[in-house]
Amino acid sequence: MLENDIERIFFSAEQLQVRVCELGAELTHDFYDKNPLIIGVLKGSFVFMADLMRSIKTYCDIDFMSVSSYGNGTTTTGAVKITKDLSYDVQGRNIILIEDILDSGITLSYLKNYISAREPESISICALLDKPARRRSQIVPDYVGFICPDEFIVGYGLDYAERYRNLPYIGVLKPEIYT
Ligand code: IMP
Ligand code: MG
Repeated sequence: MLENDIERIFFSAEQLQVRVCELGAELTHDFYDKNPLIIGVLKGSFVFMADLMRSIKTYCDIDFMSVSSYGNGTTTTGAVKITKDLSYDVQGRNIILIEDILDSGITLSYLKNYISAREPESISICALLDKPARRRSQIVPDYVGFICPDEFIVGYGLDYAERYRNLPYIGVLKPEIYT
């Protein structure tokens, strides 16, 4: 059974809910009259983004981008490829880029450069989780939900080989699942 694959829970559904509401309140305050364009990086961010946007109490638009860099493994291949581009013009917009987790930082620094080249008014990064121990590029998120340990985690949108995104909490898998 799905839940039997989890060794331990890092962030419970309740903890996630509380923290996501706090981030939503911060973003509401900071972007109140800025009509932000919220861009989610698929697929990992979609659960977080769905909850976050419902706690943003002001006008906003949403868009998605999709990139691939991981294949089915647990570490980045280092090469980022855009597999779904933006549907909106970002020029002059206040962008909030939403990621599930900031790991090596390669994906987000690539996307930040890519979007910056299209001349937005501003670009801010909001990541639910940050694994600073593994950073390989110089990128500092503007909003972070939780700092997390250097372990491969799943749930609440995060996958291992496309599975476990539907878990309502974030946890670490039993070692035998990875082998
Ligand atoms: P980065 O380019 O190394 O920062 O990669 C970030 C992306 O890698 C995230 O959007 C996730 O899709 C994936 N990723 C990084 N760490 C984990 C993890 O612990 N569990 C699941 N996915 C992860
Ligand atoms: Mg992934």
